[in-house]
Amino acid sequence: MNIYPLLRAVLFMFEPERAHALSMAALELVYRLKLSRLLFGRRRSVPVNVLGLTFPNAVGLAAGLDKNGDHIDALAACGFGFIEIGTVTPRAQPGNPKPRVFRLVKDDALINRMGFNNDGVDHLVERVKASKRDCIIGINIGKNLDTPLELAVDDYVRAFQRVYPYADYVTVNISSPNTPGLRDLQHGEQLRQLLHTLKQQQQQLAQQYQRYKPLLVKIAPDLSDDDISDLARTLIDNGIDGAIATNTSNQRPDLTSAAFASEQGGLSGRPIRQQADHVLSVLLRELDGKMPVIAVGGIMSAADAQRKLQAGASLVQLYTGFIYSGPALISSILKEM
Ligand SMILES: Cc1cc2nc3c(=O)[nH]c(=O)nc-3n(C[C@H](O)[C@H](O)[C@H](O)COP(=O)(O)O)c2cc1C
Repeated sequence: MNIYPLLRAVLFMFEPERAHALSMAALELVYRLKLSRLLFGRRRSVPVNVLGLTFPNAVGLAAGLDKNGDHIDALAACGFGFIEIGTVTPRAQPGNPKPRVFRLVKDDALINRMGFNNDGVDHLVERVKASKRDCIIGINIGKNLDTPLELAVDDYVRAFQRVYPYADYVTVNISSPNTPGLRDLQHGEQLRQLLHTLKQQQQQLAQQYQRYKPLLVKIAPDLSDDDISDLARTLIDNGIDGAIATNTSNQRPDLTSAAFASEQGGLSGRPIRQQADHVLSVLLRELDGKMPVIAVGGIMSAADAQRKLQAGASLVQLYTGFIYSGPALISSILKEM
C-alpha cells in the first residue's frame, strides 16, 4: 500500500525544512512502532559487491538528508541498501540563514543552499554507534565555513580520523556549491594535495584499526569534460577507491517554477538528470574501470536508475526523487534489476 502520495500532499503544505523535520519524526515513529515493513515492504535483497563491501542492494540514500546520522535505522527500514550520512564538519555549525531550501514542484526539483548545517562530527559518531548498522553506512565529510581554504585539508583530516572506525566508506565532499571556494578543491594542486594527504591518512588508519576503509570523492555536475578528465587522472594517481557523480548544480536549465528559479543554491532533481548523466559517462570513460562510480543526480524513476547502471555505474543514490516519490521509488528501481 503506497500512502506516500497522500502524505506528500500534506507535507508539501509545509515549508520544506519543516516538512523534512515532520517526515523524519513520522519515519522514526513508524520505525519504533515496527510498522516499517508493513508500510514499505521487506528490504529487497539484491546483494552487490563494490569497494570490497557487500551492499544489501544497489540503491542508496544520498548525502544531505540525514546530515547528523540521527535517522539511520528508520531510513534503512525504507529499503535502502546503503545510507550516506553527512556532510559532517569537524565542528557544529548553523549553516545559512533560512529560508534555504525551495521546492520547484512543476520541475520535480529542489534548490538548496543549506551550507553544511550540522551538529559536528562527535555527535554524528555517537549516532552511528547507537544505530543497528544493518546496512552499509557511508560518511560524507566537509570543511567548516570559517576554516580558510588554505587550511581545508586539516578539517578533512580531522573529520576523516574521527569517522574512520565507524564508517564503511568515507566520501570527501568537494562539490557542494554552498560553501564558498569549496569547489576550487576539485582542481589542480589543491586537489592533489588534499587527496595525497587523505590517502596517507587512510594508510595509517588502516594499520591502526587493522581495517581498510574505502575513500571516495564526490564531484559537481558543473565540471567541463576537460576538468573531469584531469580530475579522473588525479583520483587514479592518488589511489582513490571510488567516485560519486554528482552533487547539485549551479546551472538553471529551462525551469518552469519561475517563483524560485532565481534562488541561489544547488539545483537537484529532474532538471539535472541529463547533466549528471553526461558527467557520469565522461567520468566512467576517463576512469576506464579503475574504480567504481556511484551515480546520483536526477533519478526520479526506475528507468533513470537503470540508465545510470547500464552506463556503468556500480550503485545509485537518491535524494530529490525520494522526496517526491517516497520509499516506493526504491522498490520500483530494485524490481527492474
Ligand atoms: C536539501 C539538500 C541537501 C543536500 N546536502 C548535501 C550534503 O550535505 N552533502 C552532499 O554531498 N550532498 C548534498 N546534497 C546533494 C545530494 O546528495 C545529491 O548529490 C544531489 O541532490 C543530486 O541528486 P538528486 O537529484 O537525486 O537530488 C544535498 C541535496 C539537497 C537537495
